[in-house]
Amino acid sequence: MNYQNILVEQQHPIATITINRPKKLNALNRETIQELHDAFSTLNADHAVKVIILTGSGEKAFVAGADISEFADFSVEEGGKLAAQGQELLFDYVQNLETPVIAAVNGFALGGGLELAMAAHFRIASDNAKMGLPEVSLGVIPGYGGTQRLPQLVGKGKAMEMIMTAAMIGAEEAKQCGLVNHVTTQEELLPLANKLAAKITRNSLVAIRGAIKAVNAKYIDGKNGYEVEIEEFGNCFGTDDFKEGTTAFLEKRQADFPGK
Ligand code: COA
Repeated sequence: MNYQNILVEQQHPIATITINRPKKLNALNRETIQELHDAFSTLNADHAVKVIILTGSGEKAFVAGADISEFADFSVEEGGKLAAQGQELLFDYVQNLETPVIAAVNGFALGGGLELAMAAHFRIASDNAKMGLPEVSLGVIPGYGGTQRLPQLVGKGKAMEMIMTAAMIGAEEAKQCGLVNHVTTQEELLPLANKLAAKITRNSLVAIRGAIKAVNAKYIDGKNGYEVEIEEFGNCFGTDDFKEGTTAFLEKRQADFPGK
């Protein structure tokens, strides 16, 4: 597929999506959000792809937020629609994707940029990264899930402080408060993302899909995460991956998962 605002590179079984508007610090305009949706959807349907890495182009930014120039003159209705469509098309979509998504935060991750990184299944960052939800400094609140996902990751008090002060935190602080899992140099960021991705690819993607569903279920209103876990656990017993995983263990060899 031909994209204007993102680059997609596939080195099976790992794919990398790079948001590519460096002159605008990779800000998320409408077109980029649609292209990201299309790329995630296409890669998720490709069973040769086992992990997706998401990063920003250039050395300065992962994503510096939603594109402010697009919504500066929106009405109340348009504002609500912007948040609803974005959440459905991209942020919730990524969170619930069956294929694991690692965000490699390589610079500013602000507003919608941090919200996108938080929608990924986990995050790593380069030591120059700066993260924050500065929306209240513009007179709005985070609208792509930030008020929900930030407290889940860093706790309510820290999230409230970050949102109210609109301040940015550095990579080390982000690691201390659980927002990112690892911090490394900019040069080592994608190699580290690929190393983690390669570890994931050795495991059963079918089982990983079930685990993503079960973990996410904790955060869905009205869902009992334990029940989802029980159901997903049971489902594993009907898969070829489970047969291969247990057989390989008993035969003292590395499993070669068929992925079904
Ligand atoms: N939306 C639209 N354009 C953006 C943008 C955004 N969120 N963030 C940066 N840009 C654009 C700038 O307008 C500028 O474009 P121009 O060269 O055509 O004027 C370009 O990207 C470079 O940004 P600039 O502000 O000159 O870089 P800087 O190094 O001085 O500052 C930031 C970097 C990240 C501190 C600053 O760009 C910023 O505060 N961006 C907005 C962050 C934000 O509030 N995000 C939440 C949005 S809801």
